[in-house]
Parts: sequence; structure tokens; C-alpha cells
Amino acid sequence: MEKKTFYITTPIYYPSGKPHIGHCYCTLACDAIARYKRMQGYDVMFLTGTDEHGQKIELNAEKEGITPKQYVDRVAKQFQDLWKLLNISNDKFIRTTDDYHVAAVQKIFKELYDRGDIYKGEYKGWYCTPCESFWTETQLKDGKCPDCGREVKMANEEAYFFRLSKYADRLLKLYEDQPDFIQPESRKNEMISFIKQGLEDLCVSRTSFSWGIPVTFDPKHVVYVWVDALTNYITALGYGSDDDSLYRKFWPADVHFVGKEIVRFHTIIWPAMLMALDLPLPKQVYGHGWLLFGDGSKMSKSKGNVVDPLILCNRYGVDAVRYFLLREIPFGADGLFTNEALINRINSDLANDLGNLLSRTTAMVQKYFGGKIPAQRESAPIDDELISMALDLRRKCDEAVDSYQFSVALTEIWKLIARANKYIDETAPWVLGKDETKQARLAAVLYNLCEVLRIVSILLKPFLPDTAPKIQQQIGAGADVLTYEAAAKWNLLPADTTIVKGDALFPRIDVAKEIEELNRLIPNPAEKAAEKPAEKPEGVAQIGIDDFAKVDLRAAVVKACEPVKGSKKLLKLTLDDGMNGRTVVSGISQWYKPEDLIGRTVVLVSNLKPAKLCGVESQGMILAADVGEGAKVIFLEGVPAGSKIR
Ligand code: MSP
Repeated sequence: MEKKTFYITTPIYYPSGKPHIGHCYCTLACDAIARYKRMQGYDVMFLTGTDEHGQKIELNAEKEGITPKQYVDRVAKQFQDLWKLLNISNDKFIRTTDDYHVAAVQKIFKELYDRGDIYKGEYKGWYCTPCESFWTETQLKDGKCPDCGREVKMANEEAYFFRLSKYADRLLKLYEDQPDFIQPESRKNEMISFIKQGLEDLCVSRTSFSWGIPVTFDPKHVVYVWVDALTNYITALGYGSDDDSLYRKFWPADVHFVGKEIVRFHTIIWPAMLMALDLPLPKQVYGHGWLLFGDGSKMSKSKGNVVDPLILCNRYGVDAVRYFLLREIPFGADGLFTNEALINRINSDLANDLGNLLSRTTAMVQKYFGGKIPAQRESAPIDDELISMALDLRRKCDEAVDSYQFSVALTEIWKLIARANKYIDETAPWVLGKDETKQARLAAVLYNLCEVLRIVSILLKPFLPDTAPKIQQQIGAGADVLTYEAAAKWNLLPADTTIVKGDALFPRIDVAKEIEELNRLIPNPAEKAAEKPAEKPEGVAQIGIDDFAKVDLRAAVVKACEPVKGSKKLLKLTLDDGMNGRTVVSGISQWYKPEDLIGRTVVLVSNLKPAKLCGVESQGMILAADVGEGAKVIFLEGVPAGSKIR
């Protein structure tokens, strides 16, 4: 019998800068689902790749004095290397500069033109001649070019358009007929109101730059990058090539995972293009939320917030990073990334809950039975709850995975882990171990724990592919008792299994020391400044005025200042805050000498919890701006100490 197929995709990433943890998020989510579906017996196609055309890439390459192709070759490799490191099990990696994709896009564009869904028209907008760029009214800055500040003029340019407006009704009907087409529900409502405001035809060619796929029948035009990019989901399967067997096997996709800001492209433009081509539509588009970095930057000196995936994986291991991203944020919602939250999860869930369950169990089997649990086992009523919970876990995980709620699946797995840890406390094997007559009972308790670990390891594997085998090795489980089917069965671990306590799965991390170390690790500010400004999703989380009002900002005069002993970075400031005075420690000694500060008025965050830095208690912090080479303290003029700032 043919296996059922499952086709899942990530967006294809812009290689306009190094891959970051935000990119990892969606790729990891897809990977967990792909692995889970494979375990369930599906024939899976998991696609990811890079979206390599467009003006931005052309400009980046020009700045470096290399060709766009050389530029994308380098960055695409960084993505591929990162996916290898993160254990991503993609079946294919598409690059939009691949020949087969280019040829297929050209065919599709021509076909849409021949069918009359693409037509030649005129693009109107504000044009900046020196920059060769069109701008919309809202993009202009004070009526001038937002890039160079020079005058712009209204200009027309010939361009090709896609008849998007024609598909408005069919799109609305699609959302109605297939209520799951857009998930989560809230995103669907956004799309409906977007369409109801009126859809305009879409400009699908450009002549102002050349790094794109040329329109075959009018080569001064290149294909609009989104049309080029969206088609990757079918060209990767061979659509438009000689061999389209994969396309016939896997299309339509079961789900496209995409970030919330690009749901619109995937649920309006993409289905309309497919409708125009008379092709089946994907079954679902899932718009996930963003990982936000508290202070809006990739790296924050002040908070030790290192978000470079390579650094994170090197320090904590790939599975810890995978676990955190999949467990911490409910798929669909935004979530805050902090190193502290990551480390806390590692300590509590991985080192404590899971790690301890394994190490306590294997240590006791070794201690009491020399590594082999006797076949004679005596059950007791207290076992029932644990066993029925374990046997029900697969169903719960299946359900969560089917709705792409991996954080729920992981939570369910951890409920069983917690129950098993509690079972150890309730059954007190160390007491049974002292009593000759209780050996069969002790055997049953330890066997049950091993069975829990076996089931946990099977269901955990799609999420933590490196860790699960370590558990399986320690409990001596062979492949035959580690199948998906075996996850819903009890009493499978054979009686003569040898159980060996191994290394700790996740060593505990000292949070305070680690954060200090991360601060030290952060690259120097010059490097930071050289990074391009954060892209769209890496913005600061929006807050309400009430949230802002929680921060008490005051003017404060620096009365005294000296370096903190034993630190190269810290200065100790004695401040007149208009109240009782206070001490604040600030990491600015690279840029300021005490005499630069004494007598000046600074902005104090006065209600920040005190923290000890190099042995000195800091009662608040002062504000400084991150500028290129370093930090610039914000000074006030003519504001008395203690004045509230809002
Ligand atoms: N190239 C387009 C997608 C074309 S798909 C046919 C693109 N690329 S992107 O590199 O800018 O973004 C790719 C994906 O990464 C998006 O889904 C985006 O939401 C996601 N993320 C980028 N930063 C992110 C976070 N900070 N958090 C979560 N995902 C984020 O758009």
C-alpha cells in the first residue's frame, strides 16, 4: 500500500544577512512536525530554501564589491550550515537562483501572460532619478526621497501587472469553504478585511534593477521577487520541469508555515496565482508569531541577550535551543527571547525534570539490581495512574501535533515526566531496597519508570533528536520497542535488558555566572554597528502607555564617580536623585572617564530592582544610547535633580 504523503514548507529566507534565531524558529517548528509525521509513517516532503533575488541583494553585493551570485552563494551556505547544525531534516533546499527554478518561473510568467492574467501596464509613482527608485506617497520623507533626501517627480514606468483584483471573490469564498485554510483564526479575519477594502492588480515586474529572473518575452523586466519566491513551493517539486513526479506526488502542500507578516502574500497572492494557473491550492497556511528581543536588538550588551544561534548551540547544545523555542512560545503567538528564560528552561525542564528522572532511575536499577531488572515483578494500584497516563500520551501528542501546537505536545510529555518523578517519591524505592521481601515490588517500580522513559523518548525524538537516543541507550531499549506503535504499548522492555547510567543529559547552568559570561562574549560594538538595522520582525514588542508608566525616570546629578575595582567596564556613580541619593553602576568606562560625568545631569531609571555588579550594589541604571562605536550617555541641561521624566 502507498504511504500517505505530507508536504510541509518554511518560507524561503532572504539571504540579505546572516541567519538569526528568528529564522531558526520556523525551520525548527517545521522540522519537529516533519519528524513526527515520518515517525507516524507518512511519506514526508519538508522543503526550505533561500529567496535570492531583489534589489536589496544587488545593493548588498555592490557594497562588498562582489557579484550578487557570489553574495548569495556565501549567505545561502550559512543557512545550509546552520540547518545542519540544528539537525534540520529537510528533504530539499531550494535556491531561487537554481536553474530549474528560474526556467519554471519564466514558464509560469509566460503562461499567466498568455492566459491574460498578466498584462502590460503603467506603474505610477514618485521617482527619484539619482536613486532610480519609485516611492509611494507615504514612503516619502517631507515630500523628498527617503534615501537621499533629493527632489522626486511623478513618473510612469511600463510594468507588467497580475489581475489580482479579479480573484477577490474567489478568495473570500475559499476562506469560507475551507475554514482551516488560514490559521490561526485571527489572521483569517485580517485577510478578509484586507480583501474587502478592495484588491488592486499587482505590479509583477521591475525594470529599475536587474538582479532577478528576466521576463523571457521582454527581458528588460525582471519578475517581481514575491512571484519568483512563492512559486518555489511547486518548482522545488519539479513543476514546470521535465520530471514533475514529486509535484504529482506531494502537491498540494499540507501546510505552509510562515511568519505573520507574510501571511498576506501566502493567502492572497499565492492562491490567486494558483487559481490563475488552474492548479490545486495548498491545504493550509499557518501564520506564526515573532520572537521578540526585549530591547529590540539582536545583541544587547546590557542584558546579556545573545541571540546568535551558533553561540547558543555551542554553549547549551542544539537540543536545548530546540526545546526552548518549541516549548516556550505557543505557535501562533509572539514570544520574548531572553537568555535568562532559555537557561531557566534548561535548568528546570531538561536538567531537573527529565535529567533527574533518567539519572535517578538508571542509578537505582544499577544500585539495587546490578543493571538488570528481575522478571519477577509485583504491581500495586498506585501504578495504574502512571501507566494509563503513559499509554494516553501518544494520543495527546498526536492531537497537539495535528494542530501544530508543539508547545502543548511538550507540555503533555512533561506532565508524564513530572508524574513519574512524583511516583518515585510516592513509592520510595530506597525504602523498598532495604527490605528483602520487597524486591519484586521494587522491580516493578523501576521497570515502570523505565517504561515511562521509553515512551517519553519515542515521542520526544522529533523535538529532541539528539537527546532521545541518549535516553534509549541508557535504558537499553532496542529499535523494536521504540517505534511509533510501541509508544502506545506497555511492558515492552524485555526482562534481560541491561540498563546503564550514563552522563547527565543536561548539566545545570549557574544563571548569574552565565549571564556575566555572555556579556563578556558579546562582540565589540563596532561589529554590532556594522550589522544592518534589524529587519521587520525583530522590532521591539509594543507596549501600552500603562506599561511605560511603570518605569520611573528621574533626572539625577552625578556627584562622584570612580571605576569599580576589578572591572574593566564598570563605573560607580554617586547620584543626587532629589531624594536620599544613591549609587548606580554603569558599564561605560570604555567611553567615559569619571571627570566626564561629575557635575552632569543624567537620566536615572529609579525603580529598577537593585542588582550587584562586581560586588557593588547598583540601585537603578542610567540611560545611554547605542551609537556605532559605543555608548553615549544621555545628558540633561537645566533640569533639577529629582524631576520626573515622562
Ligand atoms: N523571502 C521572504 C519569504 C518568501 S516565502 C515564499 C521573507 N524572508 S525573510 O527572511 O525576511 O523572513 C522569512 C521568515 O522568517 C518569515 O516568515 C519571518 O516571519 C521569519 N522571521 C524573521 N524574523 C523573525 C523573528 N524574529 N521571529 C520569528 N520569525 C521571524 O519574508
